[in-house]
Amino acid sequence: MDIQAQARARCQWLPDLEGTDTPRYQALVDQLAADIAAGTLAPGERLPPQRLLADALKVTVGTITRAYREAERRGLVEARVGSGTRVRSASPEAPRFHHLSHAAEGSIDLSLSVPIPHPWRAEQLTGVLSRLSQSAQAIEAALAYPPEQGSPASREALAVWLTRQGLPLSAEELILTAGGQHADFLALQALVQPGEAVASAALTYPGMIATTRQLGLKHVAVPMDDEGLQPEALERLCQQQRIRLLYLMPEHNNPTGARMGEARRHAIVEVARRHDLLLLEDGVQFVTAATRGTPFYRLAPERALYIFSVSKLLAGGLRLGALRAPANLMPRLTAALRAQCWAMPELMTRAAADWLTSAKATTLIEWQWQEVAARQRLLTERLKGHDIVAHPCGFHAWLRLPEPWRAVDVVARAAERGVTLLGADPFCVGSQPAPQAVRICVTPPAERARLDEGLTRLAALLDEEPRRISPLV
Ligand SMILES: Cc1ncc(COP(=O)(O)O)c(C=O)c1O
Repeated sequence: MDIQAQARARCQWLPDLEGTDTPRYQALVDQLAADIAAGTLAPGERLPPQRLLADALKVTVGTITRAYREAERRGLVEARVGSGTRVRSASPEAPRFHHLSHAAEGSIDLSLSVPIPHPWRAEQLTGVLSRLSQSAQAIEAALAYPPEQGSPASREALAVWLTRQGLPLSAEELILTAGGQHADFLALQALVQPGEAVASAALTYPGMIATTRQLGLKHVAVPMDDEGLQPEALERLCQQQRIRLLYLMPEHNNPTGARMGEARRHAIVEVARRHDLLLLEDGVQFVTAATRGTPFYRLAPERALYIFSVSKLLAGGLRLGALRAPANLMPRLTAALRAQCWAMPELMTRAAADWLTSAKATTLIEWQWQEVAARQRLLTERLKGHDIVAHPCGFHAWLRLPEPWRAVDVVARAAERGVTLLGADPFCVGSQPAPQAVRICVTPPAERARLDEGLTRLAALLDEEPRRISPLV
């Protein structure tokens, strides 16, 4: 048997690269993605060693190295020292978008965007539920099928609360959803046809990336700068192709922290009007009225939707969100929601709305704003001299790494020291290159001192000599 035949016999996975015009490394990654999607390659399965696969396919080891590296970047595989390269998950979405922390037991988790876990929360919700359970009228109302937009009383309560926060809205403009993620999904499912394109900043919320994939929509990445996505680049993209909807996070982009100035917002509205784009503003990363710019629905009420959620203010487990939409789009949204689940359950909606609008919640939310601002100041202090984008109301900050650090190495070395972080990869639209940066969430630790400890460990790590921790073997 010649070397190729021997190698082929030993390879447990052998892609067929014949009959394709794409470069060989690319064809190999495409085949890998297809085999993972088809279940031919299972999560955790080990890929052949590079030399063996190179011999089997009669290509250079460099081609295989490049392919494995690209597959790692796309989230298809992970490389571990000593155990080779393994399939990461059945779907690239899983590592990109899931709500539970990867943090090891005892680690300082700075990877999740969640409210600060204050004991007041449980106390306050207990009080709200107990009052609700004693109101015969509220319980009776919770037994009836609610209208598709959600109960008028809960919508009214949210509209009044949002208006007080500098977001003037009426109950008729709102449709209640199971959190912000559901509102994102609902808007795209109802308003964008399969095969049509959605655009967003090149680095965006992973739940939106998962939604476009799930719905079979094209996701176009718009180049961005320190103010978020660039209107000139959007204009060029709109001239080249039909884009139906633009997803925006103008206040505090997740993950880069970019904040849009007013002129940028107006420029985007002009492009949207010229090319008839719908605008979907995601306000889940909620900021105070004092730091907020003009929401898009105030600039372009005829085409802008706005997403609100209580997840960052009170608790993600409540799953209460709301979508503001122009009247002409409401029938399509209610039809989609009805087909999904008829309407949001009134019991939960009412409990969350009662809590949000209570005086105690106001105290809790104000405490959280102050604590978040103090934590952001602490972060800026501990990482002094580094390139950081922070926001006084931001649950996260964005750290652009100094040369020659790679995000994958910082994440891995931080994990070795008991600190959990996310790199840029889960936030990249399509095959956009991931910048060498990490997102640091300041809210998961209950105690500020624990955040301090995590930041101190991270700062110490960045002072050391960069060491590559993830060679591909
Ligand atoms: C920008 C953005 N949109 C939506 C969500 C999801 O919100 P919810 O938990 O209300 O579904 C998140 C969660 O982190 C987010 O950051």
